[in-house]
Amino acid sequence: MTKKTVNDINVNGKRVLVRVDFNVPLNPETGAILDDSRIRASLPTLRLLLDRGASIVLCSHMGRPKGRVDDKLSLAPVARRLSDLIGQPVEMANSVIDDGVASQVDALTAGELLFLENLRFDSREESNDPEFASSLARLADIFVNDAFGAAHRAHASTEGVAHFLPSVAGLLLEREIKYLGMASENPARPLTVLFGGAKISDKIAVARRLMEKLDVLLVGGGMCATFFKAMGLEIGKSIFEEEALEFVSGIMARGESGSVTVALPRDVVIAKEFDANATPETVAATQVPPDALILDIGPETVSLFRDYIMRARTVFWNGPMGVYEFPAFSYGTRSMAQALADSDAVTVVGGGSTADAVAAFGLADRMDHVSTGGGASLEFLGGAALPGVAALMDAT
Ligand code: 3PG
Repeated sequence: MTKKTVNDINVNGKRVLVRVDFNVPLNPETGAILDDSRIRASLPTLRLLLDRGASIVLCSHMGRPKGRVDDKLSLAPVARRLSDLIGQPVEMANSVIDDGVASQVDALTAGELLFLENLRFDSREESNDPEFASSLARLADIFVNDAFGAAHRAHASTEGVAHFLPSVAGLLLEREIKYLGMASENPARPLTVLFGGAKISDKIAVARRLMEKLDVLLVGGGMCATFFKAMGLEIGKSIFEEEALEFVSGIMARGESGSVTVALPRDVVIAKEFDANATPETVAATQVPPDALILDIGPETVSLFRDYIMRARTVFWNGPMGVYEFPAFSYGTRSMAQALADSDAVTVVGGGSTADAVAAFGLADRMDHVSTGGGASLEFLGGAALPGVAALMDAT
């Protein structure tokens, strides 16, 4: 890590502003937290700071309320879950920075935590307003950024505030950079990259960069329709991306030249409708009928991809192999999660839906690293400097 971390500073008796990404999925009807992985992932940083005698002013965003207070996006339920997980009270602030928050902060003593309300209730957060950033900074002596999932955003609490306080990385941020860096910069070879999900267009920058490092590229998920289309195959009612055809043709040409191995599905699971109760049928990738959609990879492909994964020394996975939320079409994604779990390679899973899938199958603990960042992990792997990381103090 080229940045200073919480281990490089003395926090005893200090008030520390900690930015976390507790933007967790909520049940739209009940507001219940559906997955608390992001909260758990920042516990080591919070515990370290509290154990070393700091008091913490914690802040996060939730959803996209666009500068307006929306009670459904209050962080109060998250504060309650954090309190259960960390085993101590977590006081909720009256607002983001108004309504007496400064006096609530003043009353904090060492070992205590105060959680500010959703930063995005104030429009100045996303516009990276310097006055708002300096108001946040006035609440503390030190800034710790542990919000990897939001590090690709140049917002007041991720980037702006770092101009006003000594600023270091939290343990989660450090871990994310370490593992994602391992997958993209200096991987143990062979490096096998497993790409899935609906769109290749979201991953062009990452794919371009990883193509220079990887040994094997495995392609599944909805995006394989674009590859099949480029090969002139029938893809039925599956959606493909016209604008990405040239790019995927370039990838396949690299595969044909032998400089890297590119493996596409040999068989796929199709159905007549996009529906959880649709009847699944396995066909060869060359035999997709015009009235069907591709919803998963088939068993022959699972076995082919598994063999590559078992021979790899580093595996990076981003994107489900099919519609894993529908049990009839979850086999490919579940089998890839199992293959990574069984492999001796360094296994790194990109955030977003891939992380959700691995958690849903109960296999997250069997991976070396599951990123908490969706967009952030793709931007980092694509080679972009993340504003929330760049703003931190350099390690000397
Ligand atoms: C995420 O969930 O990817 C992060 O919390 C960032 O959220 P955003 O895309 O709304 O900035």
